[in-house]
Amino acid sequence: SSNAMWGGRFASGPDAIMEEINASIDFDKTLYNEDIDGSIAHATMLAAKGIISEEDKASILDGLNTIRREIEGGTFTFSRRLEDIHMNIESRLRELIGPAAGRLHTARSRNDQVALDFRLWVKKELQKTDVALTGLISVFLTRAEEHADTVMPGFTHLQTAQPVTFGHHCMAYVEMFGRDRKRVRHAIEHLDESPIGAAALAGTGFAIDRHMTAEALGFSGGPTRNSIDTVSDRDFALEFLSLASICATHLSRLAEEIVIWSTPQFNFVRLSDSFSTGSSIMPQKKNPDAAELVRAKTGRINGALIALLTVMKGLPLAYSKDMQEDKEQVFDAAKNLDLAIAAMTGMVGDLTVNTASMKAAAGTGFSTATDLADWLVREAGLPFRDAHHATGHAVALAEKKGCDLADLSLEEFQSINPAITNGIFDVLTVEASVASRKSFGGTSPDGVRQQIAWWREQI
Ligand code: ARG
Repeated sequence: SSNAMWGGRFASGPDAIMEEINASIDFDKTLYNEDIDGSIAHATMLAAKGIISEEDKASILDGLNTIRREIEGGTFTFSRRLEDIHMNIESRLRELIGPAAGRLHTARSRNDQVALDFRLWVKKELQKTDVALTGLISVFLTRAEEHADTVMPGFTHLQTAQPVTFGHHCMAYVEMFGRDRKRVRHAIEHLDESPIGAAALAGTGFAIDRHMTAEALGFSGGPTRNSIDTVSDRDFALEFLSLASICATHLSRLAEEIVIWSTPQFNFVRLSDSFSTGSSIMPQKKNPDAAELVRAKTGRINGALIALLTVMKGLPLAYSKDMQEDKEQVFDAAKNLDLAIAAMTGMVGDLTVNTASMKAAAGTGFSTATDLADWLVREAGLPFRDAHHATGHAVALAEKKGCDLADLSLEEFQSINPAITNGIFDVLTVEASVASRKSFGGTSPDGVRQQIAWWREQI
């Protein structure tokens, strides 16, 4: 009956409000596969331990397989009245096989059940992320190989700093996404213990075999060791969200660079039509929408991490219903992280690199000033600070004349420091600059090729 106090959409009263706040089926139906896998492993173990009969086990497994087909075929009716995926499946199982369905929940609680389902789901998502990151890294390796010799300006403070190669810049992203992939693998290792059998929080009096279910479900670390921790713990979800946030941050920095590089002012790259859009009013425009959206996805992924940290921070042990709020955040972050990685893999793979603009830009802003200073140290024996000072004079002179450092005459250089010889002109080109940076991890084309070779081994 409608109630003036509840009003609006809750016209049907307190029961409807309770259902609205309590039911999780609208989002946790995503876990149906994991829930059924978990129930199959649990029922199989219960029968092996003589806790349920082989006959009941057989009809439970039969029913669960039917339910999986029904859900996959779109004929399963999800009910909010039944709260969540666990109750929806169990209730359907009873319709299908009768009273034997009631034996499935022996020595189990929804607390360990949901901990299991969610862990299995996050583990699969991490495995998918591993593959996706490997794909992104491969695309960068290909671009780096093509552009190991392509000179571009390197920036600090977004001001021209020193010439680098585009290949070297690509390999910086390989390092970043490589660390992300390592975090993914560590996260899989950390969560790889089975929660099932922790029951409500205290374990169970039935003689279950948690090692058996752990093995059946593919948890390489065996069962979790403490039942209270097991039903209270969402570290695996938090760890996924933190590594997702760090990865999204990397994607966002890359997106930002693509946005900047694709402006007519920079003109370093051209996005393919598939990853850009036109303007409805300005015919000349080609907008980097996909990159901008990747940059924006970081907001919701970071938001999901903060949301779940905040949900968890004040919870007493063990399970509290607050923890039901974990799933939407993780599902949303996962979907958007997958999408952002896929979009970036596509964008980086088919963007056109404008090597002429990059090279021209690399030579502006007195980018080889450090090379001049280094030459004075190496060839004229000046302390670096004095060389820096003399180079400052050369830059000021070139600036005053409106020319590049390499356009100054030998006489002009010698007016700054008489020890300077013609040899100076060899180090002032952008190619000579990058070629000279042979220190381990530096931008020299040979160094970049070594980085690529190392990563090819890792991948
Ligand atoms: N839907 C619940 C969740 O997502 C399942 C666990 C419910 N357990 C309970 N004792 N009410 O957390």
